[in-house]
Amino acid sequence: MKQRYSELICKINQWDQEYYVLDDPSESDAEYDRCFTELLAIEAAQPELITAESPSQRVGATPIQDYAKITHQVRMLSLANAFSLAETYAFFEKAAKELGHDSVDFSVYSEPKLDGLAISIYYENGKFVYAATRGDGQMGEDVSHTIKTIKSIPLKLNSPNPPKHLDIRGEVFMPKQAFEKLNRLATSNHTKIFVNPRNAAAGSIRQMNPKIAAERDLQFIPYGIGTYEGEQVFRYHSDIMHYLHSLGFKQNPHCFNFIGSYENFTQNYAFMSDHRADLAMEIDGIVYKIDDLTLQDTLGFIARSPKWAVARKFPAQNESTQLLAVDFQVGRTGVLTPVARLAPVFVGGVTVSNATLHNMDEIERLGLCIGDEVEIQRAGDVIPKVVKVTVIGNTRTPIIMPSHCPVCGSSVAQTLGQASFRCTGGLSCGAQSAERIKHYASRKFMNINNLGTKLIEALYDTGKLKTIADIYQLNSADIADLDGQGLKSAQNVLDSIESSKTTKLGTFIGALGIHEVGEESAKHLAKHFGNLTAISTASLEELVAVPDIGPVIAQNIADFFNDITNQTIIADIIAAGVNWPDEVPPSPNEQPLLGQTWVLTGTLEKLTRTEAKALLESLGAKVAGSVSKKTACVVVGKDAGSKLKTAETLGNKILDESAFIAAFVD
Ligand code: IVH
Repeated sequence: MKQRYSELICKINQWDQEYYVLDDPSESDAEYDRCFTELLAIEAAQPELITAESPSQRVGATPIQDYAKITHQVRMLSLANAFSLAETYAFFEKAAKELGHDSVDFSVYSEPKLDGLAISIYYENGKFVYAATRGDGQMGEDVSHTIKTIKSIPLKLNSPNPPKHLDIRGEVFMPKQAFEKLNRLATSNHTKIFVNPRNAAAGSIRQMNPKIAAERDLQFIPYGIGTYEGEQVFRYHSDIMHYLHSLGFKQNPHCFNFIGSYENFTQNYAFMSDHRADLAMEIDGIVYKIDDLTLQDTLGFIARSPKWAVARKFPAQNESTQLLAVDFQVGRTGVLTPVARLAPVFVGGVTVSNATLHNMDEIERLGLCIGDEVEIQRAGDVIPKVVKVTVIGNTRTPIIMPSHCPVCGSSVAQTLGQASFRCTGGLSCGAQSAERIKHYASRKFMNINNLGTKLIEALYDTGKLKTIADIYQLNSADIADLDGQGLKSAQNVLDSIESSKTTKLGTFIGALGIHEVGEESAKHLAKHFGNLTAISTASLEELVAVPDIGPVIAQNIADFFNDITNQTIIADIIAAGVNWPDEVPPSPNEQPLLGQTWVLTGTLEKLTRTEAKALLESLGAKVAGSVSKKTACVVVGKDAGSKLKTAETLGNKILDESAFIAAFVD
């Protein structure tokens, strides 16, 4: 068992390396998951085997209460800035003079300046010991609990002969895509929106709860070392960088070594400016370092920064301008998004005249009115945004959510419990229609093969396709009239429409595009109610009894089916021949837990959370995240905390994992 355990740790750590550091996975997700489950099972059976390098130890079970202070053995320094080529070159000319050289004849190593936060990670005999923030340079805060969740940081260095002591310095950052995803999620969940990827990374690392950091896609790239005690002898900074890569760390993209001539600095800056937008992460400049470590030592430091390195900063991407107006854009699901119309301003190489404002909460947070001067930020290719009000306008007009949809005139309503406002026009709203038709016809739903997005747009523009019901009224001439569509391809489209008419209830419900009702929830609805009438006339209480349906989604479903236009459209579709077999809702014998709400808490050892949830749902129960009086039963795993306490106080039924398995498995 012990040998198998070490083998699994080794394998998983290697796969993490391949996936997170080298971007070159060699194993399937399924095999990875299988081995991880096996590892967890061994750890559950023999907890005495658990070692700190086990991938299961990346996310600790409990949040920390406070940050411990850590004194850096070697001070963490900052960098001097240069804002032009002349300043950059002058910096190295001065260094050359101090070194007694006639010109800048030494090698300079250039690295992107990553826009995140500086971290020092300390390893002893190759094993992760702690990670700390920079703090004031002398003393930082222990953030091991969140840093350990970053999969591109090895818990054990990849070396048969690791150094006795090694303190690795580098930058933790959030890639642009992860940042945009996080803010999209924050917008729909009504939580805090981060101003830029650096704040998002810093906010994640300073979380008390490591689970939150683990969910955010953070990365780490080293740029130097502090303490080192080992057998390697380094002559150049670039040697250190290669060594760190060999130990299992990611490499900074686009690093170069060149003689520090004026021309080379010019070319390098031009190259980096051109490639900046293509990088996966935000960079705010280029760091130039003298590569030769002996020269670095001779030069030493001044105040808080080295005399052998300088940060060439990119020009500011924040500018001030006036907010002229706010328009509201309507998306597929009818959500109205406020968009700032600005007096055009040149920011980071482009002219910006629009910026997103996310939602009304964000406008309130900014204290924004039309007429104000605002600061605009353009972070690389991220959509420009309004960061703050810089000067309050002389004449100020408050920003008000319109009461009627700017596209179709239907009334606008606030989504229950959320920051978003939506047009209630549903399928009759023009802004929503084309996108809804695409959703309806897509492969995942009605799967109308030859009715692709381009054709839908063209038919929508010519007025032939206004709602999803119009699909069934199309004739060959409507399609053939469009550019590039002959009679034969028109017939193919009509054939696809015809053959898509026989479908499944869950597929049809999903195709309707009810706000927040995805493929899975639609299937649950079909299975639970069996037929369309039962779904469309269900009460809110009946709807929330369905797995994955909470009160907000239940309200969306009820609103959708209460809308007269939607009712007409559905009736027309059915009249056109769209059909499905009714499903037989499972009998009460098969679903002994029907109508009950269960809660899972603590670490389950024999089943995964997903397995336990699927089991309960197959028995008819709904699985909720919190305990209330209505909870039928709480299944308790290892280290259960507050939910167990609540259940004890409220007197809910409690089952431990083995009792749960004994009752329902086999
Ligand atoms: S070297 C003694 N290299 O920029 C030299 N720093 O403004 C220490 N940074 O605190 C820094 N990318 O957090 C270095 N490739 C890079 C960097 C980098 C980002 C950050 C670092 C430092 C700050 C200084």
